[in-house]
Amino acid sequence: MVRYRYKKQNQDCNKTISSGKDKKFMCGIVGYVGKDKALSVLIQGLKRLEYRGYDSAGIAIRDINGKISICKAVGRVNDLEKKLRYDASGNLGIGHTRWATHGGVTVNNCHPHHVGKVTIVHNGILENYLELKTILCNEGYNFYGDTDTEVACAYIDYVYKNNSSSEIKDILEKCMNIFVGSYAIVGMIEDYDSELFVMKKDSPLIIALGDNGTYVASDISAYANDTKEYVPLEDMEYGTIMDNEIHIYKNNKELELLFNTLDVTNNEEGLQGFNHYMLKEIYEQKDLVSKWYNRYFNNHEIDSLVNMNDFKKIHIVGCGTAYHAGMVGKYLLEYYGDIEVQVFIASEYRYQKLFIDKDTLVIFISQSGETADTLACIKKVKEYGVMTLGIVNVENSSIARIVDKVIYTKALSEVAVASTKAYTAQVYVLSMLALKMALANDKLEIVDVKDFYLNLSNLIDKALNYDYKHIIDLIWKQEHMFYLGRNIDYVTMMEGSLKLKEISYIHSEAMAAGELKHGTISLMDEHSCILVMATLERLANKTISNIKEVKSRGAKVILLIREDISNNLDSDCYDEVILLPKGCYFTQPIINIVYLQMIAYEVAKRLGLDIDKPRNLAKSVTVE
Ligand code: G6P
Repeated sequence: MVRYRYKKQNQDCNKTISSGKDKKFMCGIVGYVGKDKALSVLIQGLKRLEYRGYDSAGIAIRDINGKISICKAVGRVNDLEKKLRYDASGNLGIGHTRWATHGGVTVNNCHPHHVGKVTIVHNGILENYLELKTILCNEGYNFYGDTDTEVACAYIDYVYKNNSSSEIKDILEKCMNIFVGSYAIVGMIEDYDSELFVMKKDSPLIIALGDNGTYVASDISAYANDTKEYVPLEDMEYGTIMDNEIHIYKNNKELELLFNTLDVTNNEEGLQGFNHYMLKEIYEQKDLVSKWYNRYFNNHEIDSLVNMNDFKKIHIVGCGTAYHAGMVGKYLLEYYGDIEVQVFIASEYRYQKLFIDKDTLVIFISQSGETADTLACIKKVKEYGVMTLGIVNVENSSIARIVDKVIYTKALSEVAVASTKAYTAQVYVLSMLALKMALANDKLEIVDVKDFYLNLSNLIDKALNYDYKHIIDLIWKQEHMFYLGRNIDYVTMMEGSLKLKEISYIHSEAMAAGELKHGTISLMDEHSCILVMATLERLANKTISNIKEVKSRGAKVILLIREDISNNLDSDCYDEVILLPKGCYFTQPIINIVYLQMIAYEVAKRLGLDIDKPRNLAKSVTVE
């Protein structure tokens, strides 16, 4: 077997590869060629990708007589299994879970797609598919669905038909020169009975080796139990995969393979007695903060973090929860590091004018390390020659591989779509960067904060054991919720509000408490319900004044206030109160968010919703 390179040495933290379900993307790809029955291998792989969120699934097997059988179903992999009528005996096949982008959730749009002699599954978006469709229609091709994937499939068939004496690799290269957009494609050509082909650009794809064959998947978790060695493909790579041979090319040159070893030690599988992964992951934070304490304080990893004082300004870029973690980071870094920090949503940053140079550090935050918008921003800033730092959970992910330096958050695998412990891990890392600056600037000494970090686990435990019933009684029937706070509480509320919205489907918006009176207060009446956080001593009174403004308009107010600053609280200004334990400026946001995660979880639970797989959401968004 030709073995193939890839191992990056520039990362400043532990480089082991975690297994389990820790890489999450929206659509899922699996492929297999080997000695086992492909059908069971593929179904097993698809089931292990289920956590990521999808709306339909499909499978294609080449049987020993060369016939390709395809089965597709809208719904879950279980629904697909119920529809499987053939006893496919073949050892070669591909499968897919689809999260609709182009075209509705229908069987016709579901992958695999089969045109002429070619069958493929595809993640990503082929941007020039309409143009190609016109060419193909003129060449006599008919289309039955609305997807870009069907067009990609037809185009490969078209090139194959017109170059049938060429090798597969040459067909793939020709197609890649024409395809615009992002794609991870795995496919079969009818005339080749023992190989799959692969092509990759801007959407993850890995190849893994097992005792009984070769696997390909969008995410190693599909086959973490069956394989110990894997390699992620890089952009513009393509090739063919057989049971005992793999040939990967770039620019028509074959590459040497160097596989990564899968470290399966750190990921605990299964629900372990919890009803939902989200709850399990919220609870895991209690132990994780102790592990991180060991890592940074006992093992002194804080010393090896990037020295932020080398820069004049910082940009932080991320999406969703990662963006919110960046916002918390901004408050911490500005307050303790005296450095200008701007935080950007990746989908905006990638198209805006940038004012950055070698004095700017750009930090990219991502749980999955695969989010398309964030990835695109890294490629963009690299043109400016700036230093890039990734704060990433999934080790060896695309983002981790292309940034100049990476700090792994070590939250272990996160399965629930709504991110909890990964967010806390991101905030923890940012707090370490800010602490390092504060120490360097003589703003404080490590003894001033060490005990606050040490005590985090106990305080998280308090949040986990709090009785939320009265709070949930007020929220669960609301159509709209408002989350208010000031300063770092405001940005924590942004994340709390997102959690509620994601899993309960209650419309929720967060705002700076002082901004309420500039518009949103017009919505306040006796049907409104407001969650307010006040954990900063110097700003608590201001926030209390703001809630009096809404209380006097009849709104219900749930106040989360730090216990030690709640003494002279006027009981008329709230309907329910949660007294939060005291942390320091670095640790308070971590304590606070656990209460908000629990509130979101309990509301969704009361509503009887699918907490781990909320509708329409994907764990990581690998298309623009
Ligand atoms: C999706 C997920 C969010 C996540 C965001 C960014 O929208 O549903 O939970 O925060 O992507 O993902 P990343 O993996 O880059 O942190």
